[in-house]
Amino acid sequence: MSGISSLPGSTDKNPTPFYPDHLFVEGVAAIAVFLVIVLIAFVWQVPLEEMADPGDTAYVPRPEWYFLFYFQLLKYFEGSLAVVAIVVLPALTLALLVLLPFLDRSAATGIRKRPLTAALALASVLCIAALTALSVLEDESHLYTMDLPPVTDEQIAAGEEIFGRFCQICHSVDGKGGFMAPDLTQIGARANRAYIEQVIIDPQIVNQATIMSVIPLSDAERHEVSAYLSRKK
Ligand code: HEC
Repeated sequence: MSGISSLPGSTDKNPTPFYPDHLFVEGVAAIAVFLVIVLIAFVWQVPLEEMADPGDTAYVPRPEWYFLFYFQLLKYFEGSLAVVAIVVLPALTLALLVLLPFLDRSAATGIRKRPLTAALALASVLCIAALTALSVLEDESHLYTMDLPPVTDEQIAAGEEIFGRFCQICHSVDGKGGFMAPDLTQIGARANRAYIEQVIIDPQIVNQATIMSVIPLSDAERHEVSAYLSRKK
């Protein structure tokens, strides 16, 4: 133990060694936390989501809130750069954590005595918070969710017919239709089905002063148009 107390900057007269003392305490704490989580899972009966349904185009895959920052980070690394965000950055982060005790040899404790370490830690927390906030903000248009019947071929065919009758005066699809409104040829790629439904119910969500009027469709007819449009990508 004398070796430990002689570390530079150490003020502790009687330091506890990392192994086995500290590791033992950490291990007991980890097991306790794990047991509490298991207990909570049993008491609250956390449900699973429904089985994955490839026909459900309204489903918006999103990680839990605590992973949104990483999800947001992935957006900045497009194409072949994605490997940087998926492999390189996590590997570097893990390596840094593993190497930290070797890189940072100071035995001083307390935030004031460790300005650099404290600043780096604070910066990471701020980055994570900012990325999480950005993810939530950018996601606004995709926050629309609805319980929708699964898409069928009949629905798509019926939807195309309704689109021709009520929507094509203004919107075009595949080069056919009006020019008064956004082309919807790729709407299914940029919006989910619940969003399309919501625009039909209340066009003002797109633009307060829109010329698109509320079109009196039945629920079934609306599901048909949204089914048809959600396949346009
Ligand atoms: C009178 C013209 C008009 C008709 C009819 C009309 N729309 Fe629109 N629609 C618009 C305009 C204009 C916009 C763009 C919003 C804006 O900036 O005003 C729009 C926006 C939309 C959007 C959002 C597009 C996006 O990129 O976010 C969807 C989806 C949509 N319309 C679906 C429909 C459907 C489905 C119908 C038929 C049931 C329909 N519209 C009928 C004019 C129309």
